[in-house]
Amino acid sequence: MLQDESHPQYLPMAGTQPKPGHDFDCRGFDVKISSDPRVSGIFQFRPDLLVPHDFGGDDSLQAVIDRLPEQIALMDENWVITAVNAPWRDANIHYRQFAAVGSNFSEICAGFAKDGYAHAASILAGLRALEDGKRTQFWQPFSGWGLSAGRHFQICVSRYRIGDRVCATAACYDITELLELRRNQQTFSAQILNAQERERQRIGRELHDSTSQHLVVLSLSLMQLKQAPHDSGTERIVAEMSDALGRAQDEIRSMSYMFHPPELKEAGLADALGALLRGFAKRTGLTISYTVGPLTSMCACDAETALYRVAQEALINVHKHAFAKAVRVRLEVKGSGLRLSIRDDGVGFDGGDEAPSLGVGVPGMIARVAELGGALRIRRLTRGTSVTATVPCKQIGHAHGLKIVE
Ligand SMILES: Nc1ncnc2c1ncn2[C@@H]1O[C@H](COP(=O)(O)OP(=O)(O)O)[C@@H](O)[C@H]1O
Ligand SMILES: [Mg+2]
Repeated sequence: MLQDESHPQYLPMAGTQPKPGHDFDCRGFDVKISSDPRVSGIFQFRPDLLVPHDFGGDDSLQAVIDRLPEQIALMDENWVITAVNAPWRDANIHYRQFAAVGSNFSEICAGFAKDGYAHAASILAGLRALEDGKRTQFWQPFSGWGLSAGRHFQICVSRYRIGDRVCATAACYDITELLELRRNQQTFSAQILNAQERERQRIGRELHDSTSQHLVVLSLSLMQLKQAPHDSGTERIVAEMSDALGRAQDEIRSMSYMFHPPELKEAGLADALGALLRGFAKRTGLTISYTVGPLTSMCACDAETALYRVAQEALINVHKHAFAKAVRVRLEVKGSGLRLSIRDDGVGFDGGDEAPSLGVGVPGMIARVAELGGALRIRRLTRGTSVTATVPCKQIGHAHGLKIVE
């Protein structure tokens, strides 16, 4: 076996003996099998294909990526695959073009996009955005097909410059278990919220129907005691008891109202919110304006309860944190959603443009509306804060026959 001296970058090939004239890629080297009987094969080093070589002239980067658990592909600036690691190769065992060094990732995606694979079209759009320099990285989830059908993946493609060369990396993650966990978590938090709601309503009913009645009995007894002959010491004690009893009755009334607002079931969300806001304004001294858009016939349902709870939490937050004078509340149908917005003229969230540190209330509001497929948006205004919760009307309409008046 002779070494081709005229090509110093050509090395004699040891080991396997493929057919003469046959070319194949091996980790960025083109392997040419010579038809010259004296030369059984040569490795042709392809610096334009091989990223590892840029890092020191050996296979060290290939060795590194082979040890990474994620599926990794390295590409040049034209999306030609220059190296793939073992997990990427294994995952694409039936789609060899994705794992073939020298093949063009963008062209393969274009082919799949043409065949109607929407995810391939999205990945292609991502590659174009990287080429245009609009972005340096994008993430795209996609569903597996063939042997991977039923599994879900996320690909992250980055394009960057090393020295005077542009390179790209694609990393693919199997996110099936993660999605499953997220679904379980959503179901779990939905169950917790539902259980919490049922429990609140039970406590509200109990406070109203039982504890309040005991207090009524107690106040009647106190009235009798007042009328019975007694000395001045007893009169003072009875007056204190009657005062404390009055306060306990007020608290229990507002607690049972908060836990189980009667209007929500009887009169619907719009009126229940009106009653809530009137009571809140009276207790806190806030000026609250309330407008209801053109909507009718809303009966109690999950979405109404969720928006009612959002209103309660947002108002308590205004009272606790905003130092506001006025609050504007609006309930309206917007597109295919029912939207509640609460705007205050207070100090706004702390921390300038940084995300606010959340307690329990805001995540609770987010979870409530997310459970119904809705969204919660909190914005810092020039002066104050705006909280907007939207739930899809479809769900309410479907389940409870909400009539929307255009
Ligand atoms: N209307 C508001 N105005 C100003 N800051 C607010 C407002 N609502 C919420 N915040 C801020 O957001 C934080 C998180 O609120 P939340 O999750 O309800 O928790 P908590 O009310 O228990 O502190 C509050 O601590 C407060 O700093
Ligand atoms: Mg709060």
